[in-house]
Amino acid sequence: MPMKHWASVIAMVAVALAGCVAPGGGPPYQMSGGEIRQPLANGVPDAERGRKVLVSREANCILCHAVPETGERFYGNLAPPLSGVGKRSSAAQMRARIVDPQAFNAESIMPAYYRVEGLHRVAEPLRGKPVLTAEQIEDVIAYLQTLQ
Ligand code: HEC
Repeated sequence: MPMKHWASVIAMVAVALAGCVAPGGGPPYQMSGGEIRQPLANGVPDAERGRKVLVSREANCILCHAVPETGERFYGNLAPPLSGVGKRSSAAQMRARIVDPQAFNAESIMPAYYRVEGLHRVAEPLRGKPVLTAEQIEDVIAYLQTLQ
């Protein structure tokens, strides 16, 4: 196999390994094919709790995404609206996007809400801690699935 191919094989293995990081005490995850199939948390997710997380200052999804279904009045437009996202994407695809947007687009401005490795410029008290908990992410996914 020519050298060039070895380099891409090594890069692919590195990407695969990067998919199973256990963030700050949170459960680990496994990304493959743009999906994280296993829920991050065991509890029963709650769409209404997810709506609250989505519009919260903590997650601030609506800083970038319009989600008129939340009933909020102001939205950013730095990202595609999330209306209909439940029709376009599976829970496994949404989970992967929220955990690690940079796995899809290295230049993405969307924060990685669960991956904690390889992040830059994280304030000291937040280092090693995911932005959202595993439960919060599962609740957000439950809400996004209602956007049909
Ligand atoms: C700083 C801006 C920003 C924030 C905050 C943000 N996103 Fe995103 N998001 C983006 C951009 C830009 C894209 C388009 C793809 C890309 O560039 O990564 C995107 C893509 C997505 C997608 C895939 C798009 C689709 O229609 O399938 C989902 C799902 C998503 N975001 C969910 C969320 C959720 C949930 C939150 C909050 C927990 C959030 N985003 C917060 C910028 C943001």
